[in-house]
Parts: sequence; C-alpha cells; structure tokens
Amino acid sequence: MTARSETALERALPPANHDPGRLQQAMRYAALGSGKRLRPLLTYATGMLLQAPLPRLDAPAVAAELIHAYSLIHDDLPAMDDDDLRRGRPTCHVAFGEATAILAGDALQALAFDHLAHDTAPDVDAATSLCMLRTLATACGAEGMAGGQALDLAATGGDLDLPALEHLHALKTGALIRACVRMGALAAAADAATLATLDDYAAAFGLAFQIRDDLLDVEGATATLGKTAGKDLRQGKPTFPTLLGMDGAQRRLHEVTALALQALAPFGAKADLLRDLAHHAATRAR
Ligand code: IPE
Ligand code: IPE
Ligand code: MG
Ligand code: MG
Ligand code: MG
Repeated sequence: MTARSETALERALPPANHDPGRLQQAMRYAALGSGKRLRPLLTYATGMLLQAPLPRLDAPAVAAELIHAYSLIHDDLPAMDDDDLRRGRPTCHVAFGEATAILAGDALQALAFDHLAHDTAPDVDAATSLCMLRTLATACGAEGMAGGQALDLAATGGDLDLPALEHLHALKTGALIRACVRMGALAAAADAATLATLDDYAAAFGLAFQIRDDLLDVEGATATLGKTAGKDLRQGKPTFPTLLGMDGAQRRLHEVTALALQALAPFGAKADLLRDLAHHAATRAR
C-alpha cells in the first residue's frame, strides 16, 4: 500500500517536468520526502478491513498526506518550532525561503481539498464525498490540528496537567489520524456503530503516535529521526516525558496502545493490518 499511496501522491502534485515554478518545487519537496506515509496507510487499511474498493481510497489517502505535508512545513517555520531538519533534509523554509514555504503549505492544503473533491472514484456518491470533505476540514481547523498547534504554542514554556496535554495531542496530531480512519470507513459506507468503534481505535492510535513522537525526541538520534533530537526540552514544549518522566510516558503509551488494540477486537483477524500499524506507531524508531 505504501507504493500505491506514493504513486497516487505523485500524481496529485504539480508535475515535475515542464519547468515547475519555485512554489510547485517546494510543494513537491515537502510532500515527497521520505515520510512514513502512515496516514495514507491508515486510510487504506481501514477501507480494506471493510472491503472498500481500493480506487475509492486513493483520494482520501492522498488528501490526508497532503494536509500532513503542509502541517510539517508550517510546524517547522521559525515562528513555530523553528526547525532546520526534516526527513533528513533541510526544512522547506531553509531550502526555499520562508515566504515560499508558507505558500507551499497553503497550496498543499488547498490541493488536498481540490483533490478530494475531484478525484474521488466515480462510484462514490456525492453525499459520501461531501462527508469526507467535511471530515478532513474539521480535522484541520480550529477544532482540530490548527487548534492543537495553537494550544501547543500557548503552552510552550508553561505547565499542563495530563488531561490538558492529552487534549492538546488529540487535536494537534489525533484529529488528522482520526479523519484518515473515518474517511477509509466512509469509503466503505460503514454504519454508525462501525464508525464509532473505529474512532475509538483511531483516537487511541493518535495518542500513542504522539507519545512515541515525544519519547523519540528524547531518546532518538537526529540521524535516525531525520529531524533534530532534543528540541522539545530545549524549547520548553509540553510533552509526555516532561510531565510523566520517560517511564511514565512509556507506561501511558502501553495503555493507549492496548486501548487501540482492544477497540479492534470485534473485527477479529481481519483487522490485523490496523493492529500492525498501531504496533508500529507505538514502537517505531523514527
Ligand atoms: C511527524 O509525523 C509529526 C507529528 C504529527 C508528530 P510523522 O512521524 O508521521 O512524519 P513523517 O511523515 O513520517 O515524516
Ligand atoms: C507536529 O508536532 C504536529 C503537526 C505538524 C500538526 P511536533 O512538532 O511534535 O512534530 P515534529 O516532532 O516537529 O515532527
Ligand atoms: Mg510542533
Ligand atoms: Mg515540530
Ligand atoms: Mg515532536
């Protein structure tokens, strides 16, 4: 599925030939770097669990990855985390300048919705398309990722208690992950009960994913991570390790990973792909 999402992502982006402009180059640079493509994989794995035809999953999978790429560009900007390394290469603003990087993020976000609105498989009805669009939009906005990023910035240098930190993570990282799973389920015309069960999985997955990200910032090496290690502490970011210590954060990671796996129980062995992804999110080295 990684190969399928790579091809679909490449096709959605402005073409590399015909002398692409600087903005288009920056969009490709940020979106096609060596990311793990976990968000598309979640959409595919969810859709496949529910027997959605694969062509129906391409557009939501790509749209989610485009949003993710945009979010990383903006997250790395000097006004936010001020990072100069991403996916083992200079960040977009270091490579292309700040103004172009901001615009590349804007354009990737717009492209995500354009792509989702136009390239949904022909047998996806308009109501389902609209529902996917709204799912993604809500996940990106003030009640989702952008809201979470705002909470992250507001809390930098200060203290948060555990519920507040988990809320921050649920918005900053969890909202988009939940949207990936939900769009995969929508592509299969899942009923409300199935959507709710999978949302339990996705919410726990998202939290596990960001706890692991926080742990890796402390224990990972820059060369493996492809991004500068130790930045959270230096910048006074609210993270699980600062609040609970490394052992406490690891314990919470185990708990929420178990919750994700527990949510999949009704699906039996058919959900093994989603299980593998949860396992990977919780144990990954980058
Ligand atoms: C990093 O996401 C940003 C967070 C939301 C923590 P990933 O770890 O999925 O980054 P890539 O796509 O693999 O580079
Ligand atoms: C980034 O979180 C979340 C979004 C991009 C929305 P982090 O700031 O922890 O991600 P990294 O560690 O820079 O990848
Ligand atoms: Mg950040
Ligand atoms: Mg960051
Ligand atoms: Mg991080």
